[in-house]
Amino acid sequence: MPTKIRAAITGVHGWLPETKLTNLDLEKMVETSDEWIVSRTGIKERRILKTPNWATSDMAAEAVKGLLEKTGHKPGEIDLLIVATVTADMVFPDTANTVCDKIGAKNAFGFDINAACSGFLYALSTGAQFVQNETYKKVVVVGADMMSSIIDYTDRNTCVIFGDGAAAVLLEPRKDGTGIQDFILRGDGSGRELLHMKAGGSLKPASLETVMAREHYAWQDGKRVFVHAVKGMTGTCEEVMRRNHLTIDDVQWVVPHQANMRIITSVAEHMNCPMEKVMLNIDKYGNTTAATLPLCLWDYESKLKKGDNIILTAFGGGFTWGAVYLKWAY
Ligand code: UT7
Repeated sequence: MPTKIRAAITGVHGWLPETKLTNLDLEKMVETSDEWIVSRTGIKERRILKTPNWATSDMAAEAVKGLLEKTGHKPGEIDLLIVATVTADMVFPDTANTVCDKIGAKNAFGFDINAACSGFLYALSTGAQFVQNETYKKVVVVGADMMSSIIDYTDRNTCVIFGDGAAAVLLEPRKDGTGIQDFILRGDGSGRELLHMKAGGSLKPASLETVMAREHYAWQDGKRVFVHAVKGMTGTCEEVMRRNHLTIDDVQWVVPHQANMRIITSVAEHMNCPMEKVMLNIDKYGNTTAATLPLCLWDYESKLKKGDNIILTAFGGGFTWGAVYLKWAY
């Protein structure tokens, strides 16, 4: 009987804005077509946050409130809350403490992790350390991004891809062998040239010129990012499986970052993974950056069984990438 304490996901909950931005809507905004978007990305629609004065923290707070209600916890029980995001409410302070304030998590401390599309993997692995080493018993990890706040809706290279959303998981200690088993996190800062926001940071503070030059939006060299994404996700998935003596037959689910359907199928092909084992919701939500992985877990929650071997993988700005291997706990 295993006795090692592991951090297990004991609940997941998501929140999405109601407003849908369909491919047909985008056809009226930029030179594109439903056919191009579906065949090149797999995306049919995405959600856009329109509620006045709402931001990333509000989506995150809704996801966490739902998570607490569902798992029967009070806000005061949370010890630590981590938000993975690239669209913090403000440059400072962090969004996590704002979320704690909005949900009344008075005993928690929080911080943000900015690892772009890999943010949830980084935050999950970080949060798990506090549980595994018995520092804390209730850690909430949120992936939340309001991408519509940094997307240029005149740029067809990016505006068809991204959407808004948030989802949260609760991490608690488990001694039954379930929980996070292993993870591989990687980074390569030289990739910053290919995927970034040009202005608004200390390198190039906001000015009239940066606004006029439309430099406060997400920018990427999609084709080159694509190649790195397939290589990075496949490589870390294979490595984490190899060192845990898993074949693809031992894995019940692969949860890939939802950036592009062609990236997902390519990673699955490299891993010899049948698509029935691959979680997908890119058609409904597009790329919600840090929220894609927990939103997938939320969408597929009813299909998951205790003990299922699950591999989560992502690639994003930084560059950042990695894979997490966990055994589902309920
Ligand atoms: O999540 C963070 C990490 N990011 C990623 O993983 C994204 C990785 N990259 C991608 O998903 C893809 O590269 C994109 C979806 C961004 C672009 O797809 P692509 O097949 O690589 O297209 P492309 O950039 O090579 O463009 C091919 C053509 C170009 O036209 P020309 O130069 O061949 O005449 C583009 O201008 O498609 C054109 N194009 C579009 N056409 C219609 C680009 N965007 C659009 C569009 N609608 N929305």
